Amino acid sequence: MADLSRLSINHQLGQYDMIVGQDLLARVAEYLSEIKASGPVGIISNNTVNELYGAVIRDSLQSAGYVTRTILIPEGEEYKTLASAEQVISALIAQGMQRSGTIITLGGGVVTDLGGFVASVLFRGVNLVHIPTTLLSMVDAAVGGKTGVNHTSGKNLIGSFYQPALVLMDVDTLKSLGTRDRVSGYAEMFKMGAIRDKEYLEYLVANMDGLIEGTADTVLIKSIAHSCELKAEVVEADEKEADLRRILNFGHTLGHAIETTLGYGAVRHGEAVILGMYAAGWLSNQVGELSNDDWEALAGMLVKIPLGLSLENLNPENIEQATRLDKKVADSQLYFVLLSELGQAHMQAGVPVLMIKLAVEALKKAWRDDA
Ligand SMILES: NC(=O)c1ccc[n+]([C@@H]2O[C@H](COP(=O)([O-])OP(=O)(O)OC[C@H]3O[C@@H](n4cnc5c(N)ncnc54)[C@H](O)[C@@H]3O)[C@@H](O)[C@H]2O)c1
Repeated sequence: MADLSRLSINHQLGQYDMIVGQDLLARVAEYLSEIKASGPVGIISNNTVNELYGAVIRDSLQSAGYVTRTILIPEGEEYKTLASAEQVISALIAQGMQRSGTIITLGGGVVTDLGGFVASVLFRGVNLVHIPTTLLSMVDAAVGGKTGVNHTSGKNLIGSFYQPALVLMDVDTLKSLGTRDRVSGYAEMFKMGAIRDKEYLEYLVANMDGLIEGTADTVLIKSIAHSCELKAEVVEADEKEADLRRILNFGHTLGHAIETTLGYGAVRHGEAVILGMYAAGWLSNQVGELSNDDWEALAGMLVKIPLGLSLENLNPENIEQATRLDKKVADSQLYFVLLSELGQAHMQAGVPVLMIKLAVEALKKAWRDDA
């Protein structure tokens, strides 16, 4: 029997299980009947993921008597829109979706965010099962109940908090994922260690190669499960994003600015977060929060993560400018998630925006020196 990890996640309205393991897709019908999910089952996916894994899921469901409908959305972040959500809703209604049915999201974070949003508004809420297929969507997008689509004014501006009835994470699906997407997911696990659990951070670093190559199945299952557990602890304590949940933004203030300036196609979210964590660690050390020893350890771990992009085009002035436009800036003072030690994060007000440029220069130098 392959390794399997089962987490029970509590939320304000109840509880659901997250199952991490291998060979789960072929048994999806068993897991659906465990939660007494009824059909019809609307599978929301995209072409790439459906080609790879749609058939095995449909076979399992249809053999157990479930009626299935598959709705595909076009590939890419630019299709995570209200217009796409409406098209999915229209297709589901036209194909006989009912209030008592179940929606399965099968794909990366774009699909789980959009599909989760559709499930939350269609008939005022339909039973939802996430089957995330990227490392990032397993450890981040599918945990915490945030769903959403983008608006022309910004990312994820339209959305809801909506909890699934079940999350199935089959690590076998990660074998078809590209290296940069695996690194991107690794970055979010690294972040959870950096802000909540130093021992886990060290475990991730010691096992980095196997995790990024996708070859260490047992380590992968253990790491994904623990990352989800850590995120779920934070979310359970603070379900509607008040204070504690903000520490999940470690590395993201600058990460978002880097994504905006380089363009979403040029940099993966997790790659930007790696750079953002370096800058946030540097700032933590500069303002006297993080000891030199911890900072040097963190910096050493971060520069070893393989990045699939050149930092030549990273312009410190442009990043500073983009950070000024970020919602966390007030009166030229930044709200920043800083580390007080490895495994401990807090939100700090009053970080001068002018320090951003210096932080970006420091990170460019670090990656140049490491080359
Ligand atoms: N809701 C949340 O809390 C939350 C948290 C983090 C990120 N997100 C969202 O997640 C999205 C990013 O997610 P992502 O990084 O998974 O990107 P993605 O969904 O765009 O997937 C990346 C690429 O991998 C492909 N893919 C997916 N699974 C595959 C597989 N097993 N094998 C081969 N290819 C596969 C996809 O088709 C896509 O081309 C963003 O929209 C972000 O806003 C949401």
